[in-house]
Amino acid sequence: MSDKKASNAMWGGRFASGPAAIMEAINASIGFDKKLYAQDIRGSIAHSEMLAETGIIEEKDQEKIAHGLNTILKEIESGKFEFSTRLEDIHMNVEARLAELIGPAAGRLHTARSRNDQVAVDFRLWVKDEFHRVAEALKGLIEAFLKRAEEHAATVMPGFTHLQTAQPVTFGHHCMAYVEMFARDLSRVRDAIERMDESPLGAAALAGTGFPIDRFRTAKALGFREPTRNSLDSVSDRDYALEFLAIAAISATHLSRLAEEIVIWSTPQFGFVRLSDSFSTGSSIMPQKKNPDAAELVRAKTGRVNGHLIGLLTVMKGLPLTYSKDMQEDKEAVFDAAETLDLMLAAMTGMVGDMQVNETAMKKAAGSGYSTATDLADWLVRTLNLPFREAHHVTGRAVALAEGKKVGLEKLTLEDLQSIHDGITDDIFSVLSVQNSVKSRTSFGGTAPAEVRRQIRYWKKRIAKA
Ligand code: ARG
Repeated sequence: MSDKKASNAMWGGRFASGPAAIMEAINASIGFDKKLYAQDIRGSIAHSEMLAETGIIEEKDQEKIAHGLNTILKEIESGKFEFSTRLEDIHMNVEARLAELIGPAAGRLHTARSRNDQVAVDFRLWVKDEFHRVAEALKGLIEAFLKRAEEHAATVMPGFTHLQTAQPVTFGHHCMAYVEMFARDLSRVRDAIERMDESPLGAAALAGTGFPIDRFRTAKALGFREPTRNSLDSVSDRDYALEFLAIAAISATHLSRLAEEIVIWSTPQFGFVRLSDSFSTGSSIMPQKKNPDAAELVRAKTGRVNGHLIGLLTVMKGLPLTYSKDMQEDKEAVFDAAETLDLMLAAMTGMVGDMQVNETAMKKAAGSGYSTATDLADWLVRTLNLPFREAHHVTGRAVALAEGKKVGLEKLTLEDLQSIHDGITDDIFSVLSVQNSVKSRTSFGGTAPAEVRRQIRYWKKRIAKA
């Protein structure tokens, strides 16, 4: 090989064979875009059928092309296909093999097409399939949460702000907060599919083509709603990849918050949940430990997914219309984010479904930290008609008194409470328990078990159709 001679000490290392090897290494995408083989072959078959139908190529050539492409599909799927870096990418690998298999007819496939619209259509097909996979995985996670929420609609736990005990809530209510989050992710996926459901095939290099192609036909054959409407945008648009990454990043961020809660909840100090052995590990040196590794890794992998979003945004931000080779960098970001998100969703669905909930620990914690102080203030407003600000003040004194005596609010005596405000009666004790506090919060979307159950019914119906 001539590039062997060009070996240069400065390039050194694995590029000792010279500039040709360096160029091949930086230019080639086959190492990762071979993932698109099925979409590439599908796109080519649809394109060739349209070419034959519109009389641009002959029927007999189309038959050879389709037959050859199907042979290649089988070769790839059985691991017999030899991918070559010299042939750069999946499109040229497939086309070169087609020429080996069927001879000159292979050369007719690329009529009225360019690799620019080819890669755009292949990648859209892939991203669209992945969106559907993510939607199914999100539904699975939501269903796991709905089940836990049903079991624990009335299980009290502390609700937090600033990670400080705030007011008692139910674990079911907390689970339903995640249902809301993941249902929004699901709706983002559905919206994005709707927006990207257009075929760029037939935009050719950038300007369209003079051949009498039928883009509506190829769009339909590939399962797209319609063709894209501007050839320049068709080959330079990667919004669908960016939207995938943005949605993945938001969803990963939701998963990471949940992971963080699971890490906290599973500490011996909290003890709210116990992870199953399948989703935790022991320590090699400290026998008492059970580490929430899966949750920690979900939390950590979010960094990767979020990084890919920024990575591709940064690739795209300086590109003039239309195609530039920079855009080849879209794939690894999306493939890795997709694989990572799929795994995170699977791990979380497993953890949520399997974890043991310690109702006793949750209830005990729910009553600590004067979590029913707001209920006391509300009682003063409702029963004694105090302005809320004054009630807040009276309650603050009750909390200080309880703190001094090192007891909970419900353990103060009636005399204690009357020393702060003489209008207080025995009835106040009915709101000082966490159970009653939770039961009283019946506003729409509130934490009362009856209200939580209403929301569970609503989401069960909606998710079945989502
Ligand atoms: N491998 C390329 C990519 O992924 C395919 C498109 C190449 N087009 C071109 N004009 N060089 O972006």
